Amino acid sequence: MKTVLQHILQRKRAYGRLPFFDFLRDDTLSVRQRLAFYPCMASFIMSFGDLNRHVLRVEPSSDPHQQMLNAHSHEDDHHWPWYLEDFSKLGHDTPTTPTAWLRFLYSDACARNRMLSHELAHLIWGATPRVRLAVVEAIEETGNVLFALTTPLAERHTRSTGVTLRYLGEFHFALESGHAMNSDHAELVSITLDEAQRADALARCNRVFELFGAWADELHRYALARLAAPGPAHGLHAAAAAVAAAGAPGYL
Ligand SMILES: [Fe+2]
Ligand SMILES: [Fe+2]
Repeated sequence: MKTVLQHILQRKRAYGRLPFFDFLRDDTLSVRQRLAFYPCMASFIMSFGDLNRHVLRVEPSSDPHQQMLNAHSHEDDHHWPWYLEDFSKLGHDTPTTPTAWLRFLYSDACARNRMLSHELAHLIWGATPRVRLAVVEAIEETGNVLFALTTPLAERHTRSTGVTLRYLGEFHFALESGHAMNSDHAELVSITLDEAQRADALARCNRVFELFGAWADELHRYALARLAAPGPAHGLHAAAAAVAAAGAPGYL
C-alpha cells in the first residue's frame, strides 16, 4: 500500500495546481468572488452522505478492512447539513422557484458534479475492501486540497461579516484533517497488496483524480461564468446559461 499512498500524494500535488485552485488562491479577487463556485457543487456534496452510508458501508462485516471503511463512513456521512448551512449563510436563498432550482441542478453546467458520485460508486463497488481503502484515501486527499484553500477564505469572510462558515471553514477542515491523521494512515501503510491489487488500486486512484480534476474544472467554469453574470436574483441561472452557451465539454 505504501507505493499506492506515495502515488496518491504525487497526484494530489498535480491536482492542487489545477486552474480552479489557482482561482481560489487569487488575491486579486474578493472572497465572495472566489466562493462563487459554491452552488455548482450542490449535487455532489449532497450525495456524499449516501455514498458513505449506502455504497462504502457494508454492515455487519467480519473483514477488518471493510470494518475500517465502515468506521470511516460514519465519520463522513453527515457533513452535508453544514454545506446547506453555509449555502444559506452565503446568501443563496435568493427568491427562485423549486422548478428553476431543479433545472439548474440538472443543467449541463453541473453535469460532472452529478456524475461524480455515480462514478465513485462504480469505482467502490468494483473493488475489494483493501483497494476501496486506497480509493477513499484518494478522495480524502482531493478534499484536503479544496478545504485547505477554502478555510482561509472562510476566516476572512468571518472577519468581514461576523458570519462563521462551518462547511468551508476550520470546523470542517479540522474534522477532515482529524481523520486523515488518526490511526488510519499508520494502519493503511501496514496493509499489504499483491501485484494485481496494487495495479487495481493505482488504476482506481488515477481515475479518482481524473474525475475530481474534471469536477474542479466544472466548478471553475461556473465560478467564472457567475462572475461575468452577477446579480442576486438571476446570477445562478444566468451563470448556468452562460456555461451552457459556452458549450459544456463532452463527458469524461
Ligand atoms: Fe466532509
Ligand atoms: Fe473525509
